Amino acid sequence: MLDGASLSEALPADRHPAGQDLVYGTLREYGRGDAWLAQLLRRPLNDVAVRALLLCALHALRSERRAAHTVVDQAVRACAQLGHAAAKGLVNAVLRNALRRRAALEQALERDEAARYAHPRWWIERLRRDYPDVWAQILEAGNGHPPMTLRVNRRRLSREAYLQRLREAGIEACAVGDYGIRLARPRPVHALPGFDEGDVSVQDAAAQYAAPLLDLEPGQRVLDACAAPGGKTAQLLETADLDLLALDRDPARAGRIEQNLRRLHLHAEVRVADAGEPEAWWDGRPYDRVLLDVPCTGSGVVRRHPDIKWLRRESDIAGFAAQQRRLLNALWRVLRRGGKLLYITCSVFAEENRLQIADFLARHTDARPLPTALPREGQLLPNDEHDGFYYALLEKH
Ligand SMILES: C[S@@+](CC[C@H](N)C(=O)[O-])C[C@H]1O[C@@H](n2cnc3c(N)ncnc32)[C@H](O)[C@@H]1O
Repeated sequence: MLDGASLSEALPADRHPAGQDLVYGTLREYGRGDAWLAQLLRRPLNDVAVRALLLCALHALRSERRAAHTVVDQAVRACAQLGHAAAKGLVNAVLRNALRRRAALEQALERDEAARYAHPRWWIERLRRDYPDVWAQILEAGNGHPPMTLRVNRRRLSREAYLQRLREAGIEACAVGDYGIRLARPRPVHALPGFDEGDVSVQDAAAQYAAPLLDLEPGQRVLDACAAPGGKTAQLLETADLDLLALDRDPARAGRIEQNLRRLHLHAEVRVADAGEPEAWWDGRPYDRVLLDVPCTGSGVVRRHPDIKWLRRESDIAGFAAQQRRLLNALWRVLRRGGKLLYITCSVFAEENRLQIADFLARHTDARPLPTALPREGQLLPNDEHDGFYYALLEKH
């Protein structure tokens, strides 16, 4: 991440769980580690590998899961493994100094908002402006650990029946929302009963609002415009027999839609295309329903992807908003009169959500917002139950 790569690109596929925990924890707290380092280093440290090693070690010291001397020893030994044996002295001195000055360093964090809330300053300011009442809760939720939530494939079994199977397998879980199941502790998907056979998928509880809101009927023509990796495509198809076209612009990601549907025994037409250019893929027959799960900053899911907080720039928001506006304009044309379009983001920034839809409604007199019964007019905030998402349901008249 310090060199601009995202976490999913940088971590090996066969990552060790303890290593993954350390990296995710370090990035969740990056604002704090960075503030500590600023006080502990006498000169700027430009070596990315040594800086990353120090940040991980400081996180390990603060979290106190391992004895402090073990953390220091392992960090010093890791210098040689990384080919930076010359940095051993520096790493040792910085970490020992951190232990000695710990109380003062912790106190200094309280005065620095980026460190205290472990988010960039511009992000904190934006949330303060968008949510004068709950901005600090959103930041705190973004630093927590995400729940692992499942969606039962109701074509194969009921939620009750799957909860029973989990009980038999000794896996602690409870019902969440109308269709979901939250596990008490995350576990690898292939260890879940019936996962490989297509009985269940992993999907956040907020994402599971998509199909119920679309009010689907068998035989409807449905477009899932930004579909990969197909979580919501599958949910729609589990709900009703649909004539569904799933688009995604990214060929590799589109392949994952097919994989997921195969596992779940579902079928849709999958195409690689730019949803914003209907001339290239639309046969001219209007759709009854359009699901538009747009590309966005991901500011509502940072506890799952803590690198997002540090990789995004404030200027990226306008770029995402422009893409979203273009997709909304283009896809409104392919919807029939009386049809419904569901706009979704996994963001908490008003510019991508409430303000984006207000701007769309001001420009489209044939669009009417429908009530969804969701809190905060469709702006779901991250909490113990679900991630931060935004939903707007629009009807064409
Ligand atoms: C938020 S993700 C979709 C998640 C998906 N709906 C699910 O539930 O699994 C957004 C997707 O939009 C795709 N995308 C971005 N711009 C696009 C465009 N112009 N046309 C089609 N797909 C696009 C991205 O490749 C990405 O897979």
